[in-house]
Amino acid sequence: MSTAHPRHRARPGGEADRWEERVQTTAHPVAYRLLRAVSARGPVVRVPRVGVVVSDAALARDVLTDTARFTKTGPGSPSDLWTPILGPSVLLNMEGAAHAALRRRLGGLFTPGYVAALCERVLREPLAELTSALAAGEDVDLVAAVQRCAGAAICELVGLPPDPKRFSTAFAEASAVTSLVRLWRSSLTPRQVRTARAVLGRLTAAATDAHRHGDETTVPGRMRALGLSAEETRGAVGAFVLTGTETLVSFLPRLVALCHDSGRLDRLRADPGGTDAVVEEALRVTVPSPVMLRSVAAPATLGGTPLSPGDRVVVFTLQCARAHGPFDPDRPMPPELRRLWFGAGPHFCLGMPLAMEQIRSVLAAVLAAGPVRVTDRRIARRVLIPGYARLTLRRSA
Ligand code: HEM
Repeated sequence: MSTAHPRHRARPGGEADRWEERVQTTAHPVAYRLLRAVSARGPVVRVPRVGVVVSDAALARDVLTDTARFTKTGPGSPSDLWTPILGPSVLLNMEGAAHAALRRRLGGLFTPGYVAALCERVLREPLAELTSALAAGEDVDLVAAVQRCAGAAICELVGLPPDPKRFSTAFAEASAVTSLVRLWRSSLTPRQVRTARAVLGRLTAAATDAHRHGDETTVPGRMRALGLSAEETRGAVGAFVLTGTETLVSFLPRLVALCHDSGRLDRLRADPGGTDAVVEEALRVTVPSPVMLRSVAAPATLGGTPLSPGDRVVVFTLQCARAHGPFDPDRPMPPELRRLWFGAGPHFCLGMPLAMEQIRSVLAAVLAAGPVRVTDRRIARRVLIPGYARLTLRRSA
C-alpha cells in the first residue's frame, strides 16, 4: 500500500492533460466548448445548423458500422467535401460493393512487410538526422522534424524521388489543401475547390507518370500492379496525402509532449515494451481526427432520438474517447473504445498500419537520442487538427 500523502501521489496525466487541453481549445476555442456543452446534454443531441451530435462510443460504433442507414455519400457527408477535389472514387466518398472492391485492391499496399520497407526507405535519413542532432545536444523542433518526415512520405506516395529539398514544399502543398477544411463543414466554396484542385493536381501529377511507367518500386507503380487505373491511383494517392499527413504531424509532437509531461519518456527509454500501450492511450486522448461525418440514408433511431433521411450525424470521436478520463496508459482500454480514433466498420482507417509504423519509428528515434526534455513549445492557433506549432527538445545532461 502506498504511504504517499494523496496530495503528493502522482495523478495519472495531470500536467500532460492540462497541456493537451490547451492544445485542443487553442485550435477550436468556440467549437470544442460548444461540442462539449452539447455532449453534456446527452449521448445523442440534435443541434441546429450542426447536425445530430453523437458522443457515446458504443452509439458511435453503431453509426459507423451500419452503412445501410448512415452513409458517407449523402447530403452533408464527406463526399460533398472530397468529390469535387478528388473525383468520385476515393474510398472516403464511396459505399457498398465498389468501395469494398477498391479497398481490397489497395490492401496490398498496407501489408506489414510493404509498410515496414516503405517506412525504412522514407524515414531512415530524416530520423537519423533527428537522433544525431538531439544526441549532439542541439535544440530540435520536433514539429519541423515531423513535417520533413511527412514531406518525405508524400514524395514516396506520389512517386517522386526522395529529394530533401522537395520535402517541405510537398508538406506545405498538402497543408494548403487541408487548411481549407473546417471542423464540421462538409463542403468548400467554388474558389476553394479550384485552389485545392490546382494544388493537388501539381502534387499528384507525378503519380500519373509513375503509374504510366509501372515501376513497382514506386507506390503508384505498385498500385498499377494491384489493378488500379491511372485515375484511381491519382485519387487514392490524393486521399492518402490528405488523410495521412496532418493527422500524423499533429499527433507525433503531442505524443512526445504527453510522454514528457507525464514522466514517461525516460521510462519508455528504459523499457520500450510499454510503447504500444502509451501510443494507444495518446491516440485516445488526442484523437487526431476528432469528428466523423455521416448522412442518414434511411429512417433510424439512435439512443432514443429519431433520425430522418438527410439528417447529418456528427460523430464526436474526441468526446467519446475522452469520457474515459485522463491520460493513463496503465488503465485497460474498454472494448467499445478500442481504436475508435481510426474509425470503425467498412471505412476503418486503411492507412493505420502505415501510421503505426511511422509513429513507432519517430518515437524510437527520439528515445534513441538519450534523455531529452521539452524546453520550449508553442501551441498552434485556430487549425483544423489541434497541435503544436513548435515543440523544442534538448538532450538533458
Ligand atoms: C494518426 C494517424 C491517423 C488517424 C488518427 C487516422 C484516422 C482515420 C479515421 C478516423 C478514418 C475514418 C473516417 C470515417 O470513417 O469517416 C480514416 C480513414 C482513412 N484513412 Fe486514416 N488516419 C491516420 C493516418 C492515415 C494514414 C497515414 C493514411 C495513409 C497514408 C490514412 C489513410 C486513410 C484512408 C485512405 C481512409 C479512408 C478509408 C475508407 O474510407 O475506406 N490514414 N483515418
